[in-house]
Amino acid sequence: MPQISAAYPAKPGQQEVDRVICASRATDTQNVYATLEAIRDRALHHNPQLDIRAALMYQSGWFLHWAEGPHRSVAELFGRIAIDKRHHEPHVVHASTGRRLLMTPWSMLLSSATESADGFGRRVLAIRDQIRAGTQLSPTTVIRRLVLPMRLPGPEGPTPADAYYRVVVCAASGQGAFDLTHWLSETQDVPRESRRTAGPADRDSASDYVDFMLDDMPCRVVAVARTALTQGLQRSMAPEWHFLALLFDGDARRDEALLDRVTEIFDDAPRRPPVLAITPAPADFLHVQQQALARGFDCLDGGHMSAWESPSVWQSIRERLRHETVDHSSVWPLFPGALPG
Ligand SMILES: Cc1cc2nc3c(=O)[nH]c(=O)nc-3n(C[C@H](O)[C@H](O)[C@H](O)COP(=O)(O)O)c2cc1C
Repeated sequence: MPQISAAYPAKPGQQEVDRVICASRATDTQNVYATLEAIRDRALHHNPQLDIRAALMYQSGWFLHWAEGPHRSVAELFGRIAIDKRHHEPHVVHASTGRRLLMTPWSMLLSSATESADGFGRRVLAIRDQIRAGTQLSPTTVIRRLVLPMRLPGPEGPTPADAYYRVVVCAASGQGAFDLTHWLSETQDVPRESRRTAGPADRDSASDYVDFMLDDMPCRVVAVARTALTQGLQRSMAPEWHFLALLFDGDARRDEALLDRVTEIFDDAPRRPPVLAITPAPADFLHVQQQALARGFDCLDGGHMSAWESPSVWQSIRERLRHETVDHSSVWPLFPGALPG
């Protein structure tokens, strides 16, 4: 699996920022999307002036706010947010210093998970207690544990795994990626989770995922809408994907547009996972491979089929997973100096 430097330090000459993730209880759990949009409006006004990038998530009556920027800016922002009556009971669930991990000024996520606020709160407090005990998880692991939790155990024991196969699927046109998660949910008899995400200006778009055991390892297959691919939260998670299964449609213009989006995700990323290219015909693969290589991606031949042939698409992904290993460690050392305030 990905070899990414544990705490993502800033490279020489690169800006060093504070990275803080704070969970808090929402005061009003009705009209949440309108609240997120109202906060987005103010954030887009203030954050660029403070050189801050942020992502705001909502799930089960809780906000999760991830902000990155210069030390004084982050302290000022959290000072302002602390007196906002739209939330209460804040808990810092990550604080560190290093390179920026959020690649866009703003992104947000709305989850329809049915877990109770108390259940979510227990998971927040477990992470906060771990920090108090001197260790913390990487930002993306905190987000995944809270907002996209893997409920299946890893091979090492009964606790839910942080390390598992992660494959993202996106189609150059049509609904093939979502057909796949739908089909996997039915054939594996597991629920399909949905999240809505949005960027600075766009309307929300979907991403779905299914978790199931593949041999003795947990596996997550995520379907992402083309418009959601380049949003900030997706981009920060993307270096940790094992590979990106792209369902091309044989139309050169649409296929290259998809590759352009993928290139944008990994601009300045610490790692570029390979592309598994699934194309309607062998000639399409040759074109896609050439274009992917020119954009700096390893491009693997995933076979030839239509994007909506879910059983064959899964067969191709599964075959590729046999070459992957899962060994990603997500525990970071604690940096007390980065706590806001
Ligand atoms: C969970 C949460 C996250 C927020 N994130 C931001 C943010 O990133 N940037 C921002 O300017 N305001 C954010 N706000 C809103 C601020 O608390 C505050 O209302 C706003 O900055 C005030 O702007 P104004 O004085 O221009 O109206 C957030 C509010 C909440 C409840």
